[in-house]
Amino acid sequence: MSGRGALRPPSEIRQMFNRIARRYDLMNRLMTFGRDIAWRRAAAQAALEVAPSLVLDVATGTGDLALELATHSTSRVLALDFSFEMLRLAARKCAAVRAQHVALLCGDAMRLPLRDCSVDVCTIAFGLRNLPDYAAAIREFARVLRPGGRLVILETAPACGLLAPLLRLYFEGFIPWLGGLVSGDRDAYRYLPRSTAAFPPPHELAMLLRSSGFPVVRYRTFMLGTVALHVAERTSSILRGEPAVAFHHLPETANQNGPMLPLIGESPSLPC
Ligand SMILES: C[S@@+](CC[C@H](N)C(=O)[O-])C[C@H]1O[C@@H](n2cnc3c(N)ncnc32)[C@H](O)[C@@H]1O
Repeated sequence: MSGRGALRPPSEIRQMFNRIARRYDLMNRLMTFGRDIAWRRAAAQAALEVAPSLVLDVATGTGDLALELATHSTSRVLALDFSFEMLRLAARKCAAVRAQHVALLCGDAMRLPLRDCSVDVCTIAFGLRNLPDYAAAIREFARVLRPGGRLVILETAPACGLLAPLLRLYFEGFIPWLGGLVSGDRDAYRYLPRSTAAFPPPHELAMLLRSSGFPVVRYRTFMLGTVALHVAERTSSILRGEPAVAFHHLPETANQNGPMLPLIGESPSLPC
């Protein structure tokens, strides 16, 4: 699967998120009937199970998952994105709730401005699908995770099963129409179903994780299988690429230390 990645180049993706940033949260609530809040909460719970000192939230966008993590723990949270407009909104939200443990970073998910083995947990919500090479991105997450660290991925999944035609109608017909109406950017919301259809289904993503240094992977799905939450444990010997030792599939469920000053830093890899 190496080489498989986003349908558009990073520069276009960044421009797209800069354009839709202002209406991004509202569209999320409308498209998912508000369920996206519960999905991020489930992702945060999975991340916090291991009581991490430092969590990296990649592709943080407007910071919803980073804030969920910070609100329910004393963990320090590094929240990274390459869209300045999305980060600006994240900064506003952090200030509104006085989230002192969240630091915002402007940088590239493919070249994280962090040392090897420096974070306990890495999270990414609805971001992996937008990265240019999924396998390379996962290897980069593995690089910054400490041995035994945890990777949590929340992502849309291609529609399948008997309801697939109906779901496709919703994603490919209704969402672009609604996106055009709410954000004025129909194209961005046409990209969402297209990039989802091209993204690996949950079992394939689990296999990719297992072959990329995360021997233990479990996942669950939400909203008729259209959203998946993967939780993966990094092997203690990533460089040797040990074979997978365990794989669990959880069935679909109903739903769902020291202080750090908020800051916006800049990664050397991508100018923001
Ligand atoms: C669909 S949004 C998800 C935002 C947020 N995590 C959430 O749960 O709503 C995807 C985010 O990924 C960011 N992104 C895409 N490619 C990136 C890259 N190469 N480096 C950093 N951020 C990236 C975009 O700027 C955008 O904010």
